[in-house]
Amino acid sequence: MPPAAESHPPLRVALLGCGVVGTQVARLLTEQADDLASRVGARLELVGIAVRDTAAPRDAAIDRSLLTADAEGLVARADIVVEVMGGTEPARSLLLRAIDAGAAVVTANKALLAEDGPTLYKAADAAGVDIYFEAAVAGAIPIVRPVRESLAGDRVRRVLGIVNGTTNYVLDQMATTGMGLEEAVKEAQDLGYAEADPTADVEGYDAAAKAAILASLAFHTRVSLDDVAREGIMSVTADDVAWAAQTGHVIKLLAIAELRDGTSAGAPAGVSVRVHPALVPIAHPLANVRGSFNAVFVEAESAGELMFYGRGAGGAPTASAVLGDVVSAARHRVLGGKGPQESTYAELAILPASAAVTRYQVRLDVDDRPGVLAQVAHALAEHGVSIEAVRQPTAPGGADVAEPGVAELLITTHAAPESALSATVAAVAELEPVRTITSVLRVEGA
Ligand code: HSE
Repeated sequence: MPPAAESHPPLRVALLGCGVVGTQVARLLTEQADDLASRVGARLELVGIAVRDTAAPRDAAIDRSLLTADAEGLVARADIVVEVMGGTEPARSLLLRAIDAGAAVVTANKALLAEDGPTLYKAADAAGVDIYFEAAVAGAIPIVRPVRESLAGDRVRRVLGIVNGTTNYVLDQMATTGMGLEEAVKEAQDLGYAEADPTADVEGYDAAAKAAILASLAFHTRVSLDDVAREGIMSVTADDVAWAAQTGHVIKLLAIAELRDGTSAGAPAGVSVRVHPALVPIAHPLANVRGSFNAVFVEAESAGELMFYGRGAGGAPTASAVLGDVVSAARHRVLGGKGPQESTYAELAILPASAAVTRYQVRLDVDDRPGVLAQVAHALAEHGVSIEAVRQPTAPGGADVAEPGVAELLITTHAAPESALSATVAAVAELEPVRTITSVLRVEGA
């Protein structure tokens, strides 16, 4: 039986940051204080909220007497430090200070973990304290704990994630309304999904940080942000989206982490971690992740396929994940024990982007005359890229291809290394009857 809440002294919780997520963490700690005490076996006492500007307007849920600009002083008097301020500094220094002072830490800071997680993990290990970060990947969705703990007895083969709600909203709007990328981004900004400067989302940096964290956990190997091959959604056109629908796909920005055993298509062994837009077949569960929702699809050797779905951002959803971590860390304070440490024993090679193996859909305009298809097919064969299907389709909406004498070809390849595909596309583009390569998209989840 866990001890009654009253039998253990209260645990002091310090909150660093009081933005959208911090406000909800503070609210839940207060509103659910009795339930949390019963679940932990000690009361969780919010002892301070560190902010830059103590005079700034705050939500009514915030007890202003808890606000302080002295973050360093605050972390020195806490049992559990919750960091939801974001950015690399001063978050890193404050978390290290908290760890040195013997506090458990909970952070939602994906950028910091993807850039310099090992420094924090090592410090936490040396101090014998917990470090939890469920909220750093996909907001409310429990995915860190399942990969780190529930699947610790299995062998994860692949993780495919829609881990950025802003870009999923943008691509979904393009697919459902036919609008262009810029208009959809503007709409996402108006609705508050996208920041005034949407770079971190639309260029894939946010998803890449999450991919690095998931890959490290899934493959027991250190993967940092720099190891992730990254491509955002800015080059996706309304035409690409319409053609995707025509061929039974939707375009999603995917975070992909996969184990390659080196047995196929001349690919070396190691871990491939990448973020890019991809065609996903409409029958795949990820194709039905709409609007700003997130989902992570995990393939493990024994468990098979798993899908985790929910809200990947927002104050209350992200605070839910933070509070779950606070409860875990608090239970250890009351009952003893410790959460998992960083696991890097596998030390797998991180493969370069050029070694990623996937299927491709290449769309091109060519002269419509005998022998052209044979020439294109020959160029693919020369580079060892095998064709799965060739279509000379009707344009989306049933219109005929624009120019007389020009044919639009849609070539789907079998899986091939990215390096072979790039060389192939370059060679095809040089062929005399080829007018334009309109798009090259990867196909995932088939
Ligand atoms: N900006 C992110 C998104 C949420 O759009 O999903 C925080 O990682």
